[in-house]
Amino acid sequence: MISVGQLERRIIVISVAFALALFALAALAVNIYHVGLPTCLTDVKPFQKGELITHSPTHYELHYVARMWRFEPEDVMIPAGSTVDIYVSTLDVTHGFILPGTNLNLMVVPGVVNYARIKFDQPRVYQLLCHEFCGTGHDRMAADLHVVDAATFAARQKAPVTAAPTSEGYRLLEAKDCLSCHTVDGKEGIGPTLKGIYGQRRKMADGSAVTVDDAYLRESIIKPSAKIVDGFDDLMPEPSVTDKEVHEIIEYLETLK
Ligand code: CUA
Repeated sequence: MISVGQLERRIIVISVAFALALFALAALAVNIYHVGLPTCLTDVKPFQKGELITHSPTHYELHYVARMWRFEPEDVMIPAGSTVDIYVSTLDVTHGFILPGTNLNLMVVPGVVNYARIKFDQPRVYQLLCHEFCGTGHDRMAADLHVVDAATFAARQKAPVTAAPTSEGYRLLEAKDCLSCHTVDGKEGIGPTLKGIYGQRRKMADGSAVTVDDAYLRESIIKPSAKIVDGFDDLMPEPSVTDKEVHEIIEYLETLK
């Protein structure tokens, strides 16, 4: 008969062997079969980009794009009394799409465009949320939907639109998806904000201090793991960027006071 001690030992050995086998299979999948994070699975147009389309003053079509980890557009305003046809798709993994206060509740699945029609009768601020765990930034996935009275809506339509930064560097940060983790407005995200860092002296996780200059920024873009800012995790993947692109990004960061 096996004593309890022996039995336990066997269970531990089998569990460890099982865990190692799982790890080996995962490593095999990554290295040999190149199983990684999906990127851009959706080729259904026009859902590469979020937008609000006006069909009439009371009928709108709203395209949402979900991605790690935000919804686009992030802020939408429509007049009360409108019917809105909402279409949603994802540029990467599966997300959720729920609008508390309404019965809108959709899954956002790669390669699929989901649809719902909803009528907004009263002015109110709604917050769109992701309710499908989609990674480390899941809890930050939210977008505002402002349903406002007709007068507010009309006033907003006339207001000048504040232009997004148009520099090549900003465009690159957007295109390379850097802005999912780094903000340019001073708010800390999954990664440090990029605002006002140029020329600063910053503390690193290993206790050293670094002056944020061209060389440091270049290294941090090309080899993100080389130096980790204190308080943040080593999460950033190595982006595919050309030398010229790195230069453009650094030039833009220099202007971000
Ligand atoms: Cu997207 Cu959770």
